[in-house]
Amino acid sequence: MLLTGAAGGVGTLMRALLPAHGYAVRSLDMVPVEGEPGAITADLGDPEALRAAVRGTDAILHLAGISLESTFEKVLRANIEGTYHLYEAARAEGVRRIVFASSNHAVGYTPWPEGDEPRVPAETRHRPDTFYGLSKCFGEDLAQLYWDKHGIETVSVRIGSCFPEPTTVRMLSLWLSPADGARLFDAALSAADVGHTVVFGASANTRGVFDLSTARALGYEPRDDSEAFAGKLIAEQGERDPALPEHQVLGGAFTTDPPIWPH
Ligand SMILES: NC(=O)c1ccc[n+]([C@@H]2O[C@H](COP(=O)([O-])OP(=O)(O)OC[C@H]3O[C@@H](n4cnc5c(N)ncnc54)[C@H](O)[C@@H]3O)[C@@H](O)[C@H]2O)c1
Repeated sequence: MLLTGAAGGVGTLMRALLPAHGYAVRSLDMVPVEGEPGAITADLGDPEALRAAVRGTDAILHLAGISLESTFEKVLRANIEGTYHLYEAARAEGVRRIVFASSNHAVGYTPWPEGDEPRVPAETRHRPDTFYGLSKCFGEDLAQLYWDKHGIETVSVRIGSCFPEPTTVRMLSLWLSPADGARLFDAALSAADVGHTVVFGASANTRGVFDLSTARALGYEPRDDSEAFAGKLIAEQGERDPALPEHQVLGGAFTTDPPIWPH
């Protein structure tokens, strides 16, 4: 399995966790991967390097790219053109399955479900909150095209917040623990007949906002819950405030102009 973005935050977590799920990981990033002298150093803008990197592999976990808002030109090169080059390499080399790291920011202007309103289903329409989110919408549509036209299967995983611990009150609802992330990527890589499936990626959070049924249908069984961190974070930051515009939508501070950091 080829792991792109192996030097990044999620890539580093997955390099540690996926071998226990039975994966032999081939790492790729544009920067050197710490502790992995054999990792492939390549840019998503280099089609020949990507073809060589995917040759002989059966699946790709595609995490590489710009992971926050940036200029349109930078997002275009890394996330839009880069993901296209990777799919072209997969098509040319006969790779059958890709797991694409999409994002909650593909649907960031979706209203936050309040009270007993139903959690947001994966079928909700695209409402990107940034050029970054727009590039994830493109990636999901590219995945659909390559399934319909070329038979390459993809699971697009709209990751909530994948970090060792949630660090904001918003993240209590979006958190994907690293261990659940590995469980979800394993399910996405191994489930049969996925065609192009879109899932939200989160743990079994008490305050969750995503409908995880399409992820569970792949065999994903989350075991973690951010609630263990709720007392500390709420004491530090206060409860989520539904009066704030950035708290009324899934994308949080990515939806403000300019985005507010940290989000
Ligand atoms: N961390 C999260 O909670 C979260 C949430 C939603 C979506 N995602 C998505 O998951 C993926 C991983 O996120 P992350 O937090 O690890 O991001 P990150 O920024 O820590 O890592 C991204 C990696 O991609 C590499 N990269 C960037 N441009 C590249 C290029 N042109 N060619 C080759 N490599 C390139 C970077 O060097 C970096 O190591 C990203 O696609 C991100 O958009 C992450």
